[in-house]
Amino acid sequence: MELKNLIIVDHPLAKRDLTILRNKNTSPLEFRNAIRRISSVLVTAVTQYFTLKKIKVQTPLEKTTGFVLKDEVVIVPILRAGLSLVESFLELIPDAKVGHIGIYRDEETLKPVDYYLKLPKNLKRAKVLIIDPMLATGGSASAALSFLKRRGAKDITLVCLLSAPQGVSKVINEHEDVKIYTIALDRTLNDKGYILPGLGDAGDRAFGTF
Ligand code: PRP
Ligand code: URA
Repeated sequence: MELKNLIIVDHPLAKRDLTILRNKNTSPLEFRNAIRRISSVLVTAVTQYFTLKKIKVQTPLEKTTGFVLKDEVVIVPILRAGLSLVESFLELIPDAKVGHIGIYRDEETLKPVDYYLKLPKNLKRAKVLIIDPMLATGGSASAALSFLKRRGAKDITLVCLLSAPQGVSKVINEHEDVKIYTIALDRTLNDKGYILPGLGDAGDRAFGTF
């Protein structure tokens, strides 16, 4: 696997929170709280090289130089589990726009089924961040990337908490221009397409639908 587009965000707080997420006894409330904390680590990593524009700012004492983000940022959660990451992204990038892509995996075929799409206009010059807790077969992420490219997005980054080698390979092979940020690359998938060791079904665990 060509791994130059895979960035594994290695941080003690992320490792601690991923352990909480993996634990099958973690409640939906604790699960959502851990996702919120771990997402903050991901936002910091993924925005590290964003370009700034200089502005003048008047402090109570004098004028000095300050900074704003140069490019518009568009966050695109993949429904439904991706919603659990949005709050942290907006906390740290408050003027980002939010698009939504509804995709679920058919449980038999594991193929992505799309059911909702609402994106801001003018994606062409925006920095687009697709967010989803899980990158398993890669079907959902690859479909989301194709939708966004068809709508004109040029600069897209995929942000997933937990990834499987199969999903990483699929995205890298089908979208070689896209960088993937993740907290951990797990071992493999089981025959139902779940990540091993993984954390189970992220949407069900975050929203209590099990
Ligand atoms: C999960 C997850 C991803 C997808 C990953 O969503 O949030 O979107 O599976 O699997 P893939 O890489 O094999 O496509 P799911 O289909 O369970 O829908 P949900 O968010 O509505 O629970
Ligand atoms: N989707 C999930 O929520 N979990 C997995 O392990 C794989 C896909």
